[in-house]
Formats: sequence, structure tokens, C-alpha cells
Amino acid sequence: MLKIISVVGARPNFMKVAPLHKAFEKLSVVSSRLAVETGKRKSAEGGESRKDEEKNSTTKHQPTTVNHLICHTGQHYDEKMSKVFFDELELPKPDFYLGVGSGSHAEQTAKVMIEFEKILLQEKPDLVIVVGDVNSTIACSLAAVKLHIKVAHVEAGLRSFDKEMPEEINRVLTDTISDFLFITEKSGIENLKKSGVSDDKVFFVGNCMIDSLIHYLPKVDSTTITEDYKLITNNYIVVTLHRPSNVDEEKSLREVIEMLNHLSEKRKIVFPIHPRTRSNIKAFGLENLLNENIILTDPIGYLDFISLVKNCELVITDSGGIQEESTYLGVQCLTLRDNTERPVTVEVGTNHLIGTDFKKAEIAALEILSGKKKVGKIPELWDGKAAERIVEIIVERLIRLRWS
Ligand code: UD1
Repeated sequence: MLKIISVVGARPNFMKVAPLHKAFEKLSVVSSRLAVETGKRKSAEGGESRKDEEKNSTTKHQPTTVNHLICHTGQHYDEKMSKVFFDELELPKPDFYLGVGSGSHAEQTAKVMIEFEKILLQEKPDLVIVVGDVNSTIACSLAAVKLHIKVAHVEAGLRSFDKEMPEEINRVLTDTISDFLFITEKSGIENLKKSGVSDDKVFFVGNCMIDSLIHYLPKVDSTTITEDYKLITNNYIVVTLHRPSNVDEEKSLREVIEMLNHLSEKRKIVFPIHPRTRSNIKAFGLENLLNENIILTDPIGYLDFISLVKNCELVITDSGGIQEESTYLGVQCLTLRDNTERPVTVEVGTNHLIGTDFKKAEIAALEILSGKKKVGKIPELWDGKAAERIVEIIVERLIRLRWS
């Protein structure tokens, strides 16, 4: 039996761990069935010890049982930033909840490390899985490697080459100390090669976030959010903004709102607002500037949000994951950033990297609304099976290590 702990902390982590959990569960069902069948056979033949059985099953590349546990650091804690995702993505209640909450980067990272180390000492897992690039990702991988526990990083190798982004620091550091690096797009292979990571740690497997998207698309179609907001399919804009570079300064936030006001004269805009952005709009006294064709909502659950993106004409965002989801859905996306760590969404998909000159962004948005749309393709291996590939590799390697 292998014990594996997956870490979730912030909103974009939940949809990456959900398919991994499902794949581990599936493996356990298959394994217990196989174990029953093998047990019946062995007892008829005179028996085999548990160790021999496990060793043999590995050499035949058959699955083994995994106790997959989930640790939620509590980096995001609001009902609408966290619990709704557990419910909709059918994740079980986390086995461990660290409750670290908000704080400066150092405070948040340190608190996660201190609390997660206690869990590691108590549970002694064979592996810790971290996903994405949030503070919980680096904090938990660091706590684990210091205790000589192996770490797998899902969504490794992505690089914006912009150290002003806290996520870039988290990505570089997590990749440096991880034992398994699971890649979503080929740029990740190149980036890791250049940073000297040995090839045998790197696996191009596809995208777990897209696994969730594919799995839940049928459910998305039964949501009523577009009717609730009286939106016409392919005739409205979805906006999400939360990067410190766009929303932490009054000047840029004011310019963003001006841009949205202009665009809202052409199309209805739905703007589910992140707590950071909401509190900054309030702090800078900008609440009354937003024009009435902009529907401001609290953060929206997973299924409703995907429904909004799937049916809109244009997404304007500074998120990482939404660049990928819109590419999969073939929806035009304007990314208000100077760089992207997900270049495949621009090279192959429907993403337009537009920078943070909001006047230029407005012109680009108007061009798209007038019909100048990019035709995209779905990137390689974004086929809904990334988590299954990851689980297979992890189990095979861990069992091999155990017997080496
Ligand atoms: C974090 C991630 C970012 C990810 C984003 C998705 C890091 C460095 N950043 O940014 O990569 O794209 O999550 O949302 O890990 N807050 C609440 N309720 C919550 C959570 C946060 O009110 O449930 C407020 C708090 O005031 C907090 C602020 O939002 O201080 C920022 O939260 P934090 O987790 O520090 O970073 P995010 O901006 O959410």
C-alpha cells in the first residue's frame, strides 16, 4: 500500500487535484478487484506472500493500492473560493485542513510549512503531490523534501521569466526540488532542460485542469447562469482580474475600469470579482465608476464559471488557468499581461497576449468583437487523460523504488 498526500491551497488547485483523486480511486477499485482475483487463484495454487504479490504485480505493470489523502492548507478559505469547488468537483472532505488563511508571502508560506511538516511527520507518506504555482505549492514541497519525502509537481516547467510574479518564484523553486515533473505543454520540457533538470524526472502528460473541464462539460450545459443573468450566447464578455500588477495600484485599476466601461457600451460584461480586486476597488473609492452594463458578482462556482466562458464571445483575464480553459473551448481570450507562462495558448490556441496598456487592449477587444477572431486548436495531449497518465507513472516508479 502506498500513501500519497496531494496538496490544495488556492482556488486554481482544486480542479487539478480532483481528476488525480478520481484516478487514484479508480486504481484502488481495479486493484482490489485484481487482489481478490489473484488471492483466489493463489489460494487455489498454494499461496504467495503479500510482498511477493506486490512485487510481481509491479513487474507486470499492474496497479497496486494507494491511500490517497488530501491536505487543504486553507490559503483560500471563503466558501465561494474553496468549498463550492469541493462540492462541484466531487472532492471528498480534506483529510487535513491547515487553516493558514491570508498573510504576507513570507507569513503564509511559513505557516503552511510549519503546519504541513506536522502532518508529514505523523503520516510519513511515500509521496507528496503539489500542483500549480501558489504559495502552498512551494511551502509543501519544501517541507517534504527536507524530510526526504519525494515530491511530484503537476504543471511543472511553465515559465513567464518574470520574477516580479510571486508564482514564477514558486514555479522555479518547486521544479528545482521535485522528483517528478509533470508537464502540460512542450515549452515546459525545454524550460526544464535549460535549467539542468535531468530528463528522467520529466513527463509530458497533458493537463489535469483540462481533465476536469472535459469531465464536467456535460454538467456545465445544465446550469442556468446565462439565463439568470439574461445573457445572449456569443454576445457578452467575461472578465476576471486579480493579479497584483493589474489591481493593486489605483492608476491601473482605474484604467481597467475605464476600458471595461467603454467595452460595456458594445456588449454586456460579467465580472466575477476576486476578493483582492473587490477590496482594492473599495479602498480606492472606485465602486461608483463601474457602468451598469457591467454585472459585478461574487466569485462564481466552477460549473457556472465554465458555462459563462463556454458561451461568451470574449474573455478578458489575467489568470493563468483561464487562458488554458478558453483555448480548449475555442473561445477568444485577451490576456492583460506582458508575458504568459503558457505560450501554447497563444501559439496554438485562441489566446491573445495583449500587455497592460489598457488603451491597446480596448482596441484589440473591439477588433475581436468586430469579427477578427483567431482560429485555435486544442494543444497536444489535452485529452482528459493527464491524471490517469500521472497516476500510472507515479505508482510504477514508487513501487520500483521500493523494490530497488
Ligand atoms: C493566489 C495565488 C495566485 C492564484 C490566485 C487565484 C499565490 C502567490 N497566488 O492569489 O497564483 O492565481 O490565488 O485566486 O499563491 N482572500 C479572501 N478570501 C479567500 C482568499 C483570499 O478574502 O478565500 C483575500 C485576502 O484578503 C487575501 C487576498 O485575497 O489577502 C489575496 O489572497 P492570496 O491567497 O494571498 O492570493 P491571491 O491573490 O488569491
